[in-house]
Amino acid sequence: RIAGPSGLVIFGVTGDLSRKKLMPAVYDLANRGLLPPGFSLVGFARRDWEDQDFAQVVHDAVREHARTEFREEVWQQLAEGMRFVPGDFDDDEAFKQLRTAVEELNASRGTSGNFAFYLSVPPKFFPKVVQQLKKHGLADAPEGSWRRAVIEKPFGHDLASAIDLNEIVHEVFDPDQVFRIDHYLGKETVQNLLALRFANQMYEPIWNRSYVDHVQITMAEDIGIGGRAGYYDGIGAARDVIQNHLLQLMALTAMEEPIAFDAEALLTEKLKVLKSVRVPADLGAHTVRGQYTHAWQGGEKVVGYLEEDGIDPNSRTDTYAAVKLEIDNRRWAGVPFYLRTGKRLGRRVTEIAVVFQTAPHSPFDSTATEELGKNAIVIRVQPDEGMTVRFGSKVPGTSMEIRDVTMDFAYGESFTESSPEAYERLILDVLLGDANLFPRHQEVEESWKILDPIEEYWAKHGRPAQYPSGSWGPEEADEMLARDGRSWRRP
Ligand code: BG6
Repeated sequence: RIAGPSGLVIFGVTGDLSRKKLMPAVYDLANRGLLPPGFSLVGFARRDWEDQDFAQVVHDAVREHARTEFREEVWQQLAEGMRFVPGDFDDDEAFKQLRTAVEELNASRGTSGNFAFYLSVPPKFFPKVVQQLKKHGLADAPEGSWRRAVIEKPFGHDLASAIDLNEIVHEVFDPDQVFRIDHYLGKETVQNLLALRFANQMYEPIWNRSYVDHVQITMAEDIGIGGRAGYYDGIGAARDVIQNHLLQLMALTAMEEPIAFDAEALLTEKLKVLKSVRVPADLGAHTVRGQYTHAWQGGEKVVGYLEEDGIDPNSRTDTYAAVKLEIDNRRWAGVPFYLRTGKRLGRRVTEIAVVFQTAPHSPFDSTATEELGKNAIVIRVQPDEGMTVRFGSKVPGTSMEIRDVTMDFAYGESFTESSPEAYERLILDVLLGDANLFPRHQEVEESWKILDPIEEYWAKHGRPAQYPSGSWGPEEADEMLARDGRSWRRP
């Protein structure tokens, strides 16, 4: 899979995402030989830069963040196709210049009119940018070529705003020209969930309500909000990652086998899950939100959320969120899916744990047996990519004592191939026009339908519970599971 003649235009090229992820991903793709020789990269931003200043910024970003080693000849070839267009989004002159740059690259680098426009900008600028692309003839592909728009979340902050946003984007681009990034879908381990379920015979028969007790999906981060107060405050953990990453993980865990591995079939199955999700009626009992407070974390004194720079000291924004969801279909009826995420938790870990019911009967003497945990299959999304299976085993010795043990599959041990970074994979897919790993607008809207009532409930009821930085979240979250006779895993 090598991209054909093409180029990428990045709006918001001075931002963090662009520097840390997009620029290094482009270089890594080039270095792996996955980009065409004439690949071109155009930056657009309000900076007084020449092409070479832009190339220098990309160079520094690549040296700092690229995954693959730096090779001068790869860099030189890529740098020759770099252009910079200064201007802001209202500036017609700048968009004319962008068009000239694109045409010049088509002629000089053989990009053949194929361009993707990456909107790495806050959503309030989406309307302006897409309208300008339309107005200046950049959104319409010349005969025989393609134009695509790549947009980053947040895709709105509730259902209504998401619908508005989708309408604005679709006025200019057809749905199949639009690639919405959910970088979790670009992660190897997330794609492997599909391989695990549908390339094997042994998991599917037990992957249902007859055997599964519940599912826990955890996305824990040890970092705080960093310099992102402007984006984060008022948005919070649930909108930031449950609406997208965690509901996508849930959909992939719960969906039926797609009739093919293509965008349409995956959309069909994920949508069925999202539409069947039921939010419990008693939201007070089945959702929890929290805010981190100052504490010592990993030998460092960290401030609480309300003391972070740029945060309203009265903010009610959630930095932790846990919700219980159910899926009303034959496979999953009655099986809770617990989703939780938080900043400043004990450690960085994302995992999907499918926890099984206890064996219906045990012939072994219970006094000789430690209390066994439930069998579990844990998909370790990151950082220690792999899978763990937990089950009871006889302890060596003369009595029939049973104890929990685990069996591990680790990427690092089983494969010599290195994993591409999520953005690398996704940018390549955009250039190839492969939409499998990109959520469609219907999924975005269904996900907001799940989250909206929860956010509305929170907005009306009290404040987030507090939890010390470095802990595993508020006590209320433990109580939420304890009421169901269950407990959170401590990864
Ligand atoms: C982003 C969120 O989508 O995902 C961030 O906006 C979060 O708040 C990030 O930190 C986590 O991504 P990853 O790949 O490091 O797990």
